[in-house]
Amino acid sequence: MKQPGLFITLEGIDGTGKSTQHRLLVQYLRKLGHRLRATREPGGTRVGERIRGILLDLSTKRLAPMAELALIYAARAQHLEEVVRPSLGRGETVVSDRYNDASLAYQGYGRKLGVETVRAFDQIVCGDTQPDLTIVLDLDPRIALARAQGRETRRNSRRGRFEAQGRQFHARVRAGYLAIARQEPSRVKVVRADRPIAEVQAEIRRLVDDFLERESEVGSRGATSR
Ligand code: TMP
Repeated sequence: MKQPGLFITLEGIDGTGKSTQHRLLVQYLRKLGHRLRATREPGGTRVGERIRGILLDLSTKRLAPMAELALIYAARAQHLEEVVRPSLGRGETVVSDRYNDASLAYQGYGRKLGVETVRAFDQIVCGDTQPDLTIVLDLDPRIALARAQGRETRRNSRRGRFEAQGRQFHARVRAGYLAIARQEPSRVKVVRADRPIAEVQAEIRRLVDDFLERESEVGSRGATSR
């Protein structure tokens, strides 16, 4: 059964500015008075953050794509149990920097494991805990990867395993996200990320405001099982 809280996710290839947009959206919703849980994947729990370390570490050389997918769903199972389901159960709005669409896009399309394989994991691990609204930040991989590299130079941080994959991989991931958006237009909204941060954030807020308004109308009609 659907839990009372709302579940919003942010997605996109590496270097779209997603984490900045996530932070700004969380600030906005907190100001509006929402009881909110901000989180991220892979991660969001101690176990999940350790798995994230394995997944992103460039020294993790020979990780089979299927092992990668299984680790991601292991982290997700922990995240669901410790964070997402309890928060939704308390009626909080959960805003996650990535969730299961990332697995469809990165592992299904990027790693070419296929949509069916990812959906099989998803059905077992996530079940009906699915996002209510997903914002996909869309950007040409050439620009996105240059941005991601600039960020690493500024922070003196190292490139992660996924960022190191190059343009063709990210072009497949991008195509994956756009395919998901075409299949589920009412849940998944695509926002162009080749614009200033404030402009992108303004569009995200408009989409989230519209979504929250629709949800409160449905709620006040008492028409759902929320
Ligand atoms: P981040 O840089 O947005 O925090 O994400 C870390 C990396 O993990 C990013 O390159 C995408 C990757 N990833 C997957 O490949 N599959 C997934 O399901 C998730 C959640 C992330």
